[in-house]
Amino acid sequence: MADLSPTRLKTIPESVAAPPIVSVVVPTRNEAENVGPLVERLRAALGAIPAEIVFVDDSDDETPRVITEIHDQNPALVRLVHRPAGARPGGLGGAVAAGLATARAEWVVVMDGDLQHPPETVPELLAAGQVDQAEAVVASRYRTRGRVDGLSGAFRRSVSRATGTLARLVFPVRLRAVTDPMSGFFAVRRDRVRTAELRPQGYKILLEVLVRSRIRQVAEVPYTFQPRHAGESKASFREGLRYLRQLAVLRLAAMRRPDSALGRLAGFAAAGALGTAVNSAALWAFGEAAGLPYLLAAFLAVQVAIVGNFAIVDRLVMHPGERTTSRRFGRFLLLNNTLTPIHLGLLYALVQLGGLHYLSANLVAIVVVFALRYAVTSAWVYGI
Ligand code: GDD
Ligand code: MN
Repeated sequence: MADLSPTRLKTIPESVAAPPIVSVVVPTRNEAENVGPLVERLRAALGAIPAEIVFVDDSDDETPRVITEIHDQNPALVRLVHRPAGARPGGLGGAVAAGLATARAEWVVVMDGDLQHPPETVPELLAAGQVDQAEAVVASRYRTRGRVDGLSGAFRRSVSRATGTLARLVFPVRLRAVTDPMSGFFAVRRDRVRTAELRPQGYKILLEVLVRSRIRQVAEVPYTFQPRHAGESKASFREGLRYLRQLAVLRLAAMRRPDSALGRLAGFAAAGALGTAVNSAALWAFGEAAGLPYLLAAFLAVQVAIVGNFAIVDRLVMHPGERTTSRRFGRFLLLNNTLTPIHLGLLYALVQLGGLHYLSANLVAIVVVFALRYAVTSAWVYGI
């Protein structure tokens, strides 16, 4: 029986040899019977390519002991990152992120530890990365020649298809070239991954890497998803729900980025809807309740709405850049009031000439000014 004491099982450090060309990161949870055959096949497939294999383990069976034995026989090839017992932060995705953080090579390949991802595909991923100048290469079950033999049951297949399709609908531009965004088998240039920005939760780590690291050049290589070598899948309904939540979190995070046109438009629309409500309520209060003349009431209502709008737009939509809050607010107030004569002029015309009630005429004025404001604010206040 091997030594299972905590000191023996603590993370086995990297060797001091020259950095490898590829780090293969393998998350494992109870894969005792699979890790041996995986290392053998990887070794054969990699041939002369200098490599390291990093297991990131969350097992509660004897997998870490088996990996430790393999490490002892191949200290330069195999490393083990043993995560805190029972905690499993971020699950599968958390394990992969930990592996990315400790990997040393220029390219990192992420693959499962149960041989469902054929090790023989790894050199193809690396070759595709070189040829296509890609920053990431995804092994896809859904490219021509790619197959899904190992997804047992029609249900698993349709879940896999549907979750992938959903991801592509949510990120149509970023995932343009990716037919299998749910793949757990991919290669990525390590210096393109923003490890600190990853917020992995469970299974969709590739999506997390592609979206948060803003990888632009993605290639794909087809492969056939194999049946498991031994043991069972850890995927669950709970993982499915986790995925949906994470997809929403990722979408929002991407929209908050300064370069997201969709995010700016959506944010402006939300702020605009709220601003319209605030403006109308304020106009009613100043005009009806306080009995001010309607043009003065409309001017004051615009000021109230601008303050509210700024609070939202500045916090949620725009990237602050270097300017201070008060400077941005000053510019915002000035800009929006540049359009106030147009607002009031339109209001006056609609009431006097169009015969509308000033409360409804104000709504028309808001819409017109909103469109105008959206066009110029992006350019002038934020310089984008
Ligand atoms: N460290 C760690 N922690 N590893 C885990 C955990 C965890 O909490 N959960 C699962 N793993 C490991 C497994 O031991 C295995 O090596 C790998 O992650 C994949 O887990 P499976 O349970 O076998 O997943 P699957 O076969 O249903 O789905 C996999 O393949 C699909 C196709 O590429 C996953 O990689 C999916 O993300 C992927 O879509
Ligand atoms: Mn599996």
